Amino acid sequence: MTGAVRLEPVDEQNLEPLLSVAAAEAEPDDVMPPVDAPAGWSHARREAFREFHRANFGGLHSAPRTAMYAIMAGGEVVGMIRMTRRDAPDTVEAGMWLGRSARGQGIGAAALRELLNLAAAAGMRVVVADTTPENRGALSVLEKCGAKLREDGEKVYAEIHLDSTPPAL
Ligand SMILES: CC(C)(COP(=O)(O)OP(=O)(O)OC[C@H]1O[C@@H](n2cnc3c(N)ncnc32)[C@H](O)[C@@H]1OP(=O)(O)O)[C@@H](O)C(=O)NCCC(=O)NCCS
Repeated sequence: MTGAVRLEPVDEQNLEPLLSVAAAEAEPDDVMPPVDAPAGWSHARREAFREFHRANFGGLHSAPRTAMYAIMAGGEVVGMIRMTRRDAPDTVEAGMWLGRSARGQGIGAAALRELLNLAAAAGMRVVVADTTPENRGALSVLEKCGAKLREDGEKVYAEIHLDSTPPAL
C-alpha cells in the first residue's frame, strides 16, 4: 500500500474529493482552522474549507506561504499534507491529516517522506511540526521519518533535518 502513496498539489480538480473525504471521515478541527459556524460539516464550514485551501494555491512563495498536497493512495484522495514557510531560514512547518479509513496503514509516514523530498527539492533544510503527547499516530510517523522530539508541557515539538532523513523504503 505505501508504495502507491503520491502527493498532488491541491487544486480545483481535487478540492471537492478532498472535501468529501474530510466531511465523511474527519473532524473539522483536524483539517482546517476554527470558523464561526454551526457545529459539524455545515454549508458554511464546507465553504470555509474551500476558501482555506484556495488561499494556499500560490504555494510556498506567496502569502500565506503554504504548499498543500492531496495525499493519493490507490488512485484515491485520502487526506492532505502541507508545508508552510517559517521565518527561520530554510525552514518549513508540516501538518497533515488522513480520513479515518486510511489511518493505521503506514500512509502517514509514506506521505511525510514524500513531503520531505519536496521540501528538500525546494531548498529547505529543516522541517518542524508540533503535536500533543496523546497523538500516538503522529508521534510514530514523525519518529519513523527521523524527527527529534522534545516534549514541553502539553505539546511535543518535532524537528527533522533533511540531511539526516532515513532513506525512503
Ligand atoms: C496522525 C496520522 C496522520 C498518522 O498517519 P497514519 O498513516 O495513521 O500513521 P501510521 O499508519 O504510520 O501509524 C503510525 C503508528 O501509530 C499507531 N497508531 C495510529 N493511531 C494510533 C492510536 N490512536 N493509538 C495508538 N497508536 C496509534 C499505528 O499503529 C502505527 O504504529 P507503528 O508505528 O508501530 O506501526 C493520522 O492518524 C491522522 O490523520 N490523524 C488525525 C489528524 C492528526 O492527528 N494529524 C496530525 C496532527 S499533528
